[in-house]
Amino acid sequence: MSPSSPSRSGARGPSPLDDLAEAVGGTPLVRLRRLFPDLDGDSPRLELYAKLEQLNPGGSTKDRPALAMLEDALASGRLAPGGTVVESSSGNLGMALARACAAHGVRFLCVVDSRINAPTAATIRALGGELEQVTQPDPETGDLLTARVKRVQQLLEEIPGAVNLHQYGNPANPAAHRDGTMREIAEALDHRVDALYAAVSTTGTIGGCAAYVRDHDMTTRLVAVDAEGSVLFGGTAGTRRLPGMGAGFVTDLSRQVQPDEVVRVDELACTAGARLLARREGILAGASTGGIVAALARTLPSLPDGSRVAMIVHDGGSPYLSTVYDDEWVGQQLGADADALDRARQDLLAASRGAEAPGGAA
Ligand SMILES: Cc1ncc(COP(=O)(O)O)c(C=O)c1O
Repeated sequence: MSPSSPSRSGARGPSPLDDLAEAVGGTPLVRLRRLFPDLDGDSPRLELYAKLEQLNPGGSTKDRPALAMLEDALASGRLAPGGTVVESSSGNLGMALARACAAHGVRFLCVVDSRINAPTAATIRALGGELEQVTQPDPETGDLLTARVKRVQQLLEEIPGAVNLHQYGNPANPAAHRDGTMREIAEALDHRVDALYAAVSTTGTIGGCAAYVRDHDMTTRLVAVDAEGSVLFGGTAGTRRLPGMGAGFVTDLSRQVQPDEVVRVDELACTAGARLLARREGILAGASTGGIVAALARTLPSLPDGSRVAMIVHDGGSPYLSTVYDDEWVGQQLGADADALDRARQDLLAASRGAEAPGGAA
């Protein structure tokens, strides 16, 4: 391509950006044809599109709420350059905030727990963030997320003037997805989106998408994909090893959202789904996106012919190479050998065609 020719995608022209923040959002929406058999051929039964949020500068969908919440705190005067932000994160918000705080001269203290991916922790540090790692679950609830939030409260008391952006209840979190993620999906698809699949943690993503759908009189069916062991939307508390999806307490934001459907997925299904997406579409995504693929497989047969479906790819798979993409980790942590994993992948494909999943892993 010559220097003067437009980029192949045409998504962003060659003009320079004033600030890296301007590169947040505007992520590609890509048609998937190979993930499931129903998507392929001359007259595919369904259209499926993936919103590639891993192509944000921070590598995940969390760039949007991080920027929105930080800018909101700065604009309101609650936070000033030179101030301190203390936030709890499973990783992605931490990376996004570390970058945004560095760019605004704000000190950033990130409270994480032992489930954080090692490369994610290293990235937060490399961007100047300070890590506080919680290793023991909260004694009252047995939950690591609750332990993280309690540690945030302690730090806020210890550090004068420190500010917590409270991603679990901050309206700027869903607003970023209402005005960004869902607006972009809807505009790209002429406002005809029959179903949207998003994984949930704070529920900022799905809540913001729901707000856009409501404000624009769309009929999009909102499917929340949650982890087994998450207490969101009436779930029962249990062990969760994978970061990014689910919550150990009912978030303030989740009280304002009513998805049309909640699909719960276990860790083996997340792993099989992520591997299926990588092998069949060449999209290397994180565990929660694998969960979305598994949820899609299960629910695809119930979607009417001709449906146009969108799913969020919340983050990329590189930080998960030593977990969901590592056979040894999967064997040790999930008790699944290569054959079991292969069966789980086949089960997903069978489920997407409405066939009985012989291994029951779908
Ligand atoms: C990996 C991952 N999965 C799922 C989500 C959805 O989380 P939330 O409900 O907090 O928007 C996120 C958040 O951006 C994420 O980073």
